[in-house]
Amino acid sequence: MPHITEIEDLKRIYKRRVPKMFYDYCESGAWTEQTFRENSSDFDLLRLRQRVAVDMEGRSTATKMIGEDVSMPVALAPVGMTGMQHADGEILAAKAAEKKGVPFTLSTMSICSLEDVARETSKPFWFQLYVMRDQDFVANMIARAKDVGCSALVLTLDLQILGQRHKDIKNGLSAPPKLTPKSIANLATKWSWGLDMLKTPRRQFGNIVGHAKGVTDVANLSAWTAEQFDPRLDWDKVAKLKEQWGGKLILKGILDVEDAKMALKIGADAIIVSNHGGRQLDGALSSIRILPEIIDAVGDQVEVHMDGGIRSGQDVLKAIALGAKGTYIGRAFIYGLGAMGQKGVETALDVIHKEMDFTMALCGHKNIEDVDRDILLIDDDFYRWRRNT
Ligand SMILES: Cc1cc2nc3c(=O)[nH]c(=O)nc-3n(C[C@H](O)[C@H](O)[C@H](O)COP(=O)(O)O)c2cc1C
Repeated sequence: MPHITEIEDLKRIYKRRVPKMFYDYCESGAWTEQTFRENSSDFDLLRLRQRVAVDMEGRSTATKMIGEDVSMPVALAPVGMTGMQHADGEILAAKAAEKKGVPFTLSTMSICSLEDVARETSKPFWFQLYVMRDQDFVANMIARAKDVGCSALVLTLDLQILGQRHKDIKNGLSAPPKLTPKSIANLATKWSWGLDMLKTPRRQFGNIVGHAKGVTDVANLSAWTAEQFDPRLDWDKVAKLKEQWGGKLILKGILDVEDAKMALKIGADAIIVSNHGGRQLDGALSSIRILPEIIDAVGDQVEVHMDGGIRSGQDVLKAIALGAKGTYIGRAFIYGLGAMGQKGVETALDVIHKEMDFTMALCGHKNIEDVDRDILLIDDDFYRWRRNT
């Protein structure tokens, strides 16, 4: 058993274990990948104020996200094709989340279906919806999410069209992987991944196959997206979907104060400040940089969450210090899943929890709910990018 002390350890094992096509799918951003890189590197512009001689016994990272109790303000982000990173990946990640007391969000583009995950877990999870052209299919997916007891709908707004990720095109990304001489040569070195995959029947987009009409090529993500995702999505449609769902609604992909205000008007329960992990608009600001501006504008009226670039508990704490009520991890849990299945996701959550808890203590706090901007030292450069108004 390798000694795992940080997320980077899981990433190294993940890279060895999972086919290159799926590693690349996870570890890439759109175009030049500037936003993908800065999502992580911009956390370095925030430093921490050490405080001493403060009683640090009896600490707690427990809080609430959209009214639900969480052991720490960290949820698992919706990640498409998680079941290709490890056989039955969505089920395993959901189980890990349940065990560790954090929310799990199932992607529309998952391999395991809503029903698969519900069958294998006992706590309600969240469902992330992409809006498709086929309104019957969307209505049906919302009904299915209600039927299995999902406690929140996470509506993703930043992917009406798919950002170009060079590696996916070059690799011919698909689920299941297409067998070409190149992919076969790579798969041959990933036998433990392959053996697990042979044992599960779940190797296609489980929420879609058998549920959507007239889908010509489900395996090819970019072709399917271009064909099916609704480019006409607008705020009126968002309002209608809110009504259709009728439960807690989280709007994902907000990166601008004006859009945050629109989300507020719609009556969202929470917004996620997110640039889709740098996978959509390359050149957009990192999530952590735009976060304080959005919190200052709407943070007292709607719960503001964030994701993008989180690779440690210190990153989470910095986002919380800026005013976020919750965060999400995407790649950080995928590294764990690809490396070691459910145990790996649990390890990723443990690593993040410990880093957050120790850092909070060394900054002089015992309770995550008391942490605020006071613990931060902020580089002047952090606020460098301003709108040209
Ligand atoms: C491989 C991969 C697939 C993703 N698929 C989805 C998806 O299906 N739906 C969605 O709303 N976001 C998706 N995202 C974005 C994540 O929900 C999240 O915003 C992002 O991963 C956060 O950045 P991080 O990976 O640096 O933590 C995906 C991200 C990755 C890395």
